Amino acid sequence: MPKIIVALDGFSSCGKSTTAKRVAAKLHYAFVDTGAMYRAVALYFHRNQIDLANKDAVADALQHIDITFEFNQQRQASDTILNGENVEVEIRKMYISEMVSQVAAITIVRRAMVAQQQQMGKKKGIVMDGRDVGTVVFPDAEVKIFMTAQPHIRAQRRKLELLQKGEDLPLEDIIENLRMRDEIDSNREEGPLKRAEDAIDLDTSFRSMDEQVDFVLAQVERVK
Ligand code: C5P
Repeated sequence: MPKIIVALDGFSSCGKSTTAKRVAAKLHYAFVDTGAMYRAVALYFHRNQIDLANKDAVADALQHIDITFEFNQQRQASDTILNGENVEVEIRKMYISEMVSQVAAITIVRRAMVAQQQQMGKKKGIVMDGRDVGTVVFPDAEVKIFMTAQPHIRAQRRKLELLQKGEDLPLEDIIENLRMRDEIDSNREEGPLKRAEDAIDLDTSFRSMDEQVDFVLAQVERVK
C-alpha cells in the first residue's frame, strides 16, 4: 500500500501527540512531535540567554542547534535530542511552556523547523503533529485532522500530565498558560494555528484515547 502523510493539528493538550504516536505505531509509520522541536529551540535559547528580539543572535543560535529523535525502549516513544543531549524531560517543564510560543512565533525559527520537518516527511509514511502541519509543512497531506477539546478538559489533562512528571501546579496557572499559548499561536504572522480548509474535525473532549486513534485510522483507511 502506498505510504501517506497524516497531519494532526490543533490546540495544546488535546491529545495530539499521544494519538499521533499510537496511530504511527499501528501503521508502522514514523512519528514526529513538532512541538518538541520548538521546545528544544526554546531550551537552547533559554540556556544561552538569546535575546528573542535580536534577529542576528537568533539566526546565529539556530546554526548551533541540532535536533534529532531517539527511540526510548522503556517509554516506547521517541526522546528529543538537542545537540547530543537527551532533553526529553527538561523540555516538558512549565518554564519551557511559558516561553515556547514566543520562540515559535519568530519567523526564522519557524522556517528552519519547517524545512527540517519537510525533509523528515519526504518519503511519506509519517504521522506529524503540531499547529501548521496541514497548512504549511504538508499542505498536500493525504489525511488532515484538526483536534479540539473543551478548555477545562485540556487543562485537567495537562495538570495530570505535569503531575506524573513531578510538577504540581495550580489549575489556574495551567489554564492561563494554555490560553496564552493559544492566543500567540493563533495570531502570529508565520504559520499560525489554523484549521486547514480540508481538515476533518476531531473533538476529543469526551472520547477515549482508543476512540481517537480509531477515528484517525478510519480516515487513513478512507484514503488508502
Ligand atoms: O505541542 P506542544 O504543546 O508541545 O507545542 C509547544 C509549543 O510549540 C506550542 O504552544 C506552539 O507555540 C509551538 N508549536 C508551533 N508549531 C508547531 C508545533 C508547536 O508553533 N507545529
